Amino acid sequence: MSALSERPAEPVVGRAVPHESAALHVTGQALYTDDLVGRTKDVLHAWPVQVMHAHARVTALRTEPAHAVPGVVRVLTAADVPGVNDAGVKHDEPLFPDEVMFYGHAVCWVLGETIEAARLGAEAVQVEVEPLPALVTVREAIAAGSFQGGQPRLERGDVEAGLAGAAHVFSGELEFAGQEHFYLETHCSLAHVDENGQVFVQSSTQHPSETQEIVAHVLGLTNSQVTVQCLRMGGGFGGKEMQPHGFAAIAALGATLTGRPVRLRLNRSQDMTMSGKRHGFAARWRVGFDESGRLQALDATLTSDGGWSLDLSEPVLARALCHVDNAYWIPNVRVNGRIAKTNKTSQTAFRGFGGPQGMLVIEDVLGRCAPLLGLDAAELRRRNFYTAGRTTPYGQPVRHPERLATIWQELLETSDVAGRQREIEEFNATHPHRKRGLAVTPVKFGISFNLTAFNQGGALVHVYKDGSVLINHGGTEMGQGLHTKMLQVAATTLGVPLSRVRLAPTRTDKVPNTSATAASSGADLNGAAIKNACEQIRERLAQVAAERLGISPADVRFAHGSVHGIAFASDRLTWEEVVTAAYFQRVQLWAAGFYRTEGLHWDSSRMQGEPFKYFAYGAAAAEVEVDGFTGAYRTRRVDIVHDVGDSLSPLVDLGQIEGGFVQGAGWLTLEDLRWEEREGPHHGRLATQAASTYKLPSFSEMPEEFNVRLLRNATEEGVVYGSKAVGEPPLMLAFSVREALRQAAAAFGPPGLSVDLASPATPEAVYWAVEQARRSTEHGHVDEGAPGVLPDQPGPDAPPMVPFSERAQQLMTRT
Ligand code: MTE
Ligand code: MOS
Repeated sequence: MSALSERPAEPVVGRAVPHESAALHVTGQALYTDDLVGRTKDVLHAWPVQVMHAHARVTALRTEPAHAVPGVVRVLTAADVPGVNDAGVKHDEPLFPDEVMFYGHAVCWVLGETIEAARLGAEAVQVEVEPLPALVTVREAIAAGSFQGGQPRLERGDVEAGLAGAAHVFSGELEFAGQEHFYLETHCSLAHVDENGQVFVQSSTQHPSETQEIVAHVLGLTNSQVTVQCLRMGGGFGGKEMQPHGFAAIAALGATLTGRPVRLRLNRSQDMTMSGKRHGFAARWRVGFDESGRLQALDATLTSDGGWSLDLSEPVLARALCHVDNAYWIPNVRVNGRIAKTNKTSQTAFRGFGGPQGMLVIEDVLGRCAPLLGLDAAELRRRNFYTAGRTTPYGQPVRHPERLATIWQELLETSDVAGRQREIEEFNATHPHRKRGLAVTPVKFGISFNLTAFNQGGALVHVYKDGSVLINHGGTEMGQGLHTKMLQVAATTLGVPLSRVRLAPTRTDKVPNTSATAASSGADLNGAAIKNACEQIRERLAQVAAERLGISPADVRFAHGSVHGIAFASDRLTWEEVVTAAYFQRVQLWAAGFYRTEGLHWDSSRMQGEPFKYFAYGAAAAEVEVDGFTGAYRTRRVDIVHDVGDSLSPLVDLGQIEGGFVQGAGWLTLEDLRWEEREGPHHGRLATQAASTYKLPSFSEMPEEFNVRLLRNATEEGVVYGSKAVGEPPLMLAFSVREALRQAAAAFGPPGLSVDLASPATPEAVYWAVEQARRSTEHGHVDEGAPGVLPDQPGPDAPPMVPFSERAQQLMTRT
């Protein structure tokens, strides 16, 4: 086993400890960025001037009336920007725009002594606009040819030959919705200026280094003049990977111009109307199966709804394309991707980062086609699993495919799927107005950033003279338990009790040039960097201890705060004794650690390579019951078996699996983003901009029985202490709920019915699926044997789609 994955005896990793801030969270003592305002003097408050047009040119902006409002200190406009007037890295996102690109776009910001003063000031600002035609839906954008960014194509084999030789060919379409992050803590920044104009920004950001870079370019400063700190986030979920930068820049600009601290915190409706969300997609597909239901070919076009600017849309699309296979071997594949440009918020990263969208397409295909093939959907899925020696459409060998089979088997057995299927059949036969469904779906999710450069992590570990340890690393804490895991890693490597190690907030002046805490890679990258730093210190201390113990440094062991030799008879020193001795011998007691993931490469123009270090696997079985009169449903039971390698922190991982699953179920079944599609004064307005209209999963939607098991004997070679990433993959286990709803709806009709289900599968959508089943003598909208007739579907002779431009590749922050 590699040194990185090997665990010492009795490690602190693997222990079920609570989240390091759990007590602070539940007692309200945990500090979030906005909590600092009360501890800071002379703070100014920022309020946006939002323009309520989906698309318009600003013809006049009069700020003077705002100055007449008592308590207004300053109005920030484009004229104030000393550097680059752009909130992103692609230069398509003006911070102070002269063209309103979505309903609620902020064109300038007012600073006030109080929030109320800033709000009234913003109301007083006069903005004149000339309305422009707006595209609000992805369908409108496709019809108008409104696209942005590269149009990648992922291709393997010969799709046309695969379809021509297939025993069954089907085609269909699917349009599905995005998702609001609804982190508990909305976007927030607090900026002030130190001596010499150095800027310090506290920000709720998953990507402090990029927040630092954007603040620097807006202010015309170097990165070294700007420090960004993130104490913790009350949730990020991808929504704070890129979106915080502009808000931090506004606060920093205000602080440099006024010399006073500036706080910018969005209220919920501002956050919902101004910040980007998960991308909704429209997809068209043709698929071919052989006689026994084995996938032969998939031809698909995925169009994501990018909103008004690119943000992370290109890398999100790339990840969607790389996950359209999910867990299934498809010999011939052609997937074209493109990004619609619409007059909406700029859609962004959201847990899974396009992976869920790609996987939803293939899971929808299988769910719709299984009845047409005369197969049980779970059996169709299993039959198509990757097996040893197969590669993904982008050319990466699928390592450990046997884990899929093992997980599947364990799940079927432990949750008695076969027995419950029989019970459900009986129930359905005797209940005309209520039907149950039970579906099982797998997950295979690639771990690493596609863009190879991002796969690096850094750490700084200090051991003080008294033996106490302080660690700092490049990752941010958003509730996912990264810091808990990092404390456990440091304690394991140094052989000290967990209580000996403390963790300091993430800061760009401690660990520079960090990647976003994203792609679920936080523990892999920062954990390996912390381990590396701790090993440097431990090796130096081993020299000191070896001399004292009269043994070779290679024979020194560190465990439970004591230092001894490998022999039973060895003397023991305390950790503190060794540290003190090392200090007096002038041995360096701190170290910087670094890690780069080996063996990755990715060519984003060819969409080929081995972008992922490994795959995370899992499977879920969900049982639902649907009411035929209303479409209302409940989730009776969910069972999950998930692969986290050897868990670094089992309670944290359990929380991630449960939370990810529920968030996925929210996306697929409850959360219904509605934008005003009708022309008129509210065209493009987000109609669901509060918790009253945007339905989130809550206790009442929890599965009534919820069993999660971690896959055993799952050591992941070449990853810190044999673990695997866990943050995103479990979200996609929620496909099981959607597919169970489809099956329950189908049970209202004749046997073997293929039913279409809208996404999100809200009770209303389920009701229409039930209606379709009841009325149905024919199948859903899957057309059998109609290849090549889809508009927009490039045929075999179509010119290749434009690959990602060189520039887009360079600028891409994550692919
Ligand atoms: N869990 C909580 N509680 N809050 C969050 O914001 N974000 C998710 C996931 N789990 C999130 C979370 C997302 S989108 C990612 S990429 C990972 O955590 C990031 O953290 P990691 O790399 O440490 O897993
Ligand atoms: Mo997560 S979407 O990679 O921040």
